Amino acid sequence: MCKECEKKTFYITTPIYYPSGNPHIGHTYTTVACDSIARYKRMQGYDVMFLTGTDEHGQKIEEKAKERGITPKQYVDEIVEIFKKLWKYMNIDYDRYIRTTDDYHVESVQKIFNTLYEKGYIYKGAYKGKYCTPCESFWTESQLVDGKCPECGREVIEAEEEAYFFKMAPFAERIEKLLTETDYLRPKTRATELVNNFLQPSVDENGNKTYGLEDLCVSRTSFTWGIPVTFDTKHVVYVWIDALSNYITALGYGNGAHDDYGKYWPADVHMVAKDIMRFHAIIWPAMLMGIEEPLPKHLAVHGWITFNGQKMSKSLGNVVDPFILGERYGVDAIRYHIMREMALGADSSFSNEIMINRINTDLANGLGNLVSRTVAMIDKYFGGTLPTDREEGEFDADLIGIATALRAKVDNYVENTQLNLALEEIFKLVSRANKYIDETTPWILGKDETKRARLATVLYNLLEAIRVASTLLSAFMPTTMPKVFEQIGAGDCATYENAGSFGVLPLDVTVHRGEALFPRIDVDKEIDELNAIYKNKELAAEPAEEENAFELPEHKPEIAFDDFEKVELRVAKVLACEKVKKSKKLLKFTLDDGEGERIILSGIAEYYDPEELVGKNIAYVANLAPRKMMGIESRGMILSAESGEGLKVVTIDDSILPGGSLV
Ligand code: MSP
Repeated sequence: MCKECEKKTFYITTPIYYPSGNPHIGHTYTTVACDSIARYKRMQGYDVMFLTGTDEHGQKIEEKAKERGITPKQYVDEIVEIFKKLWKYMNIDYDRYIRTTDDYHVESVQKIFNTLYEKGYIYKGAYKGKYCTPCESFWTESQLVDGKCPECGREVIEAEEEAYFFKMAPFAERIEKLLTETDYLRPKTRATELVNNFLQPSVDENGNKTYGLEDLCVSRTSFTWGIPVTFDTKHVVYVWIDALSNYITALGYGNGAHDDYGKYWPADVHMVAKDIMRFHAIIWPAMLMGIEEPLPKHLAVHGWITFNGQKMSKSLGNVVDPFILGERYGVDAIRYHIMREMALGADSSFSNEIMINRINTDLANGLGNLVSRTVAMIDKYFGGTLPTDREEGEFDADLIGIATALRAKVDNYVENTQLNLALEEIFKLVSRANKYIDETTPWILGKDETKRARLATVLYNLLEAIRVASTLLSAFMPTTMPKVFEQIGAGDCATYENAGSFGVLPLDVTVHRGEALFPRIDVDKEIDELNAIYKNKELAAEPAEEENAFELPEHKPEIAFDDFEKVELRVAKVLACEKVKKSKKLLKFTLDDGEGERIILSGIAEYYDPEELVGKNIAYVANLAPRKMMGIESRGMILSAESGEGLKVVTIDDSILPGGSLV
C-alpha cells in the first residue's frame, strides 16, 4: 500500500536482458506480457512499478566490444538504444529502466556482496574447470566440443582460479518449502524438477535431511568488465549477484538514487522464461534470505518461443524481427498473437502462417468485423445515433450474462499470469456477439418499421458487448482499443469500473465510423512476400521442405511375431530429467512407471533441454537387461525417433496412465 495515495501497489519485473545482440521476439514476449499486466493493474487502480532493463557486464560483452575495437560501455550503449527503441515501438510503458552499469546499481551490489561476505555466506575458494590457455577462458565439461575448447578448438587443461563462492546449504530447506509449500512458483508443476535436479534432498543413515545443492561461484578474476569486489579488487562480481540484485537496487535498496523500496518491495511478479528459472527460484531467494530481506511473491515462468523446434535466439532473431512484423501487421496484432499463443509453462512454436491466420480469424473477422458491422448498421438504420426506445428479446440474456461475468474471469487470469486464457475468454464474448447478430438478424428487423425499438436494443447490446471486451483488451492492445472506443462512442464510459456492468453507454449513443481496425491479410501472398524479404536477409520465413529432408534408414531383417512379443513396451511419466555429469550425451530420466520410480539413461542430451521433457508421457522398453553407464544403472530404453533434426523422444497421449503397455 502506498502511504501517500493509499492505493495498493503492484511491482512487476522482466529479466534484465543481455545487450550482447539485438532483441528478438523472445525478449519481446516477456516484455509485452509484463507491460499488459502492468497496464491491467493500472486500470484496476493500482500504483504500479514496472521495471525492465539490461544486464551489461561479463566476459562476452567485453570480448564483443574488443572485436569491434570499442569499449564495453560504448558497445552496450549502442545496443541498449536498440532495446529502448523496440520497447517504444512495441508500446511498452515501463516505469523504470535499469542498466547494471548505472552507478547506483554498482554501489548497491558492492554493499550486498559485502553483507553476504560479512555474514559468512560468501567465502574464498577455487574455481576448478577446463581452461583454454590461448583464449584465457574457463569452460565447463558440457561446453567443450569433442573435449576441446569451443572457441578455438585447441586442447584444454585442468586449471584452478581463485574465486568467491556463495554458500547455498544454509538456505536449502527454506527454499524447498518455498517451492513446494507456497505459491511462489508458477506453474507449480515445475517445483519437482527444481527440487530433484538442484536441491537434491536426501535422508542420511541417521535420518537427517541433507541437500546436494552446490555452492555458487560469484566472482572471477579472468576478466575485468564487471563490478569490482571492494575488498579484493582483482575480483569482479560474477553474473548472478550483479544481475538479480537489480530488482531491489532499482528501487533504491542500498543507494540514494531511488526511494521506493519500502513502497514496492516485495515484488508481486518476476516474469522469466524457463532458461533462468533456476536462478530466480533458488539463487535469488537464497540471496534475499542471506541479506534478510522479504522474498518476492511470485515467479511466473513461461516457455520459449521456438522456431522449427529450436529456441528463438540471436542467430535466428532476424527470422521474426519484431520491427518487420510490426510494420506489416501493426504492433497490437503482434502483441496479441504472441500473448495468445503462449500458455504459461509451455513452449510456443512461432509460425508466420499461424500468426497470419490468427490475426485474420480473431482480429479481422472476429473483433474488427463485429465493430464495423455494428457501427455500419447504426449508421444505416439510425443515421449514427440510436433512438432511446427499447424492446428486450430472445438471446439478450445470454449475451448480457457473458459480458457481465467477463471482467471477474479476466481479473483472475491476469492475477495468475495466464494471459492466453484471459484473451481467450475475452474473445468468447466477441464470438458470442457475432453469433448474436446472426441470431437476431438486424437486417430483417431493419425492414420492419414496427421493430425499430427491438433493432435499437440489438445494436445497443452489441455496442455494450464491444465496450466491455475492448476495455478489458486495452491493456493488451493499447493502440487499437482507443480507436474502438471512438467508433462506438464510448467516451468516458470505457473504464475498468464500467467493464463489470452492462447498460452503461447512453441510450442515445452516437457512433463514428472509422477505418478497419485490423485489415484482413491474404495468407499466400503474404507468405510469398515474407519469403522474399527474409531471403534478402539470407533467411527464409518458413524453411524450405528440403531442409528437413533426411535419408530413410535401412530396413532390418524380418523377425517372427514371437520374437516381437518378447519386447515389453510400456508407458511412463517423466518425473525429472537431468544431464549426467561428465557426459555430453546422456540424460538421466526419473520415471513414474506405474509401480514406482525407474531410472533410465538415454543418449539424447544434445537434442533436449532436460526440463522440456518433464511431465511428458513417454514409451520405453521395460524388459531390457539393466545396464550401468557413468556409474548409474539404467533400467530400460526410452523410444526416440530419428527426425532429420536429431532424435526426438516418442511422446504418448496424456490420458494414458503410467504403467500402461503398448500392444
Ligand atoms: N541477463 C539474464 C537475465 C538476468 S535477470 C536477473 C538473461 N538475459 S537474456 O538476454 O538471455 O534474456 C533471457 C530472457 O529473455 C528469458 O528469460 C525470456 O524472458 C526472454 N527470452 C529470450 N529468448 C526467448 C525465447 N525464445 N522465448 C521466450 N522468451 C525468451 O538471461
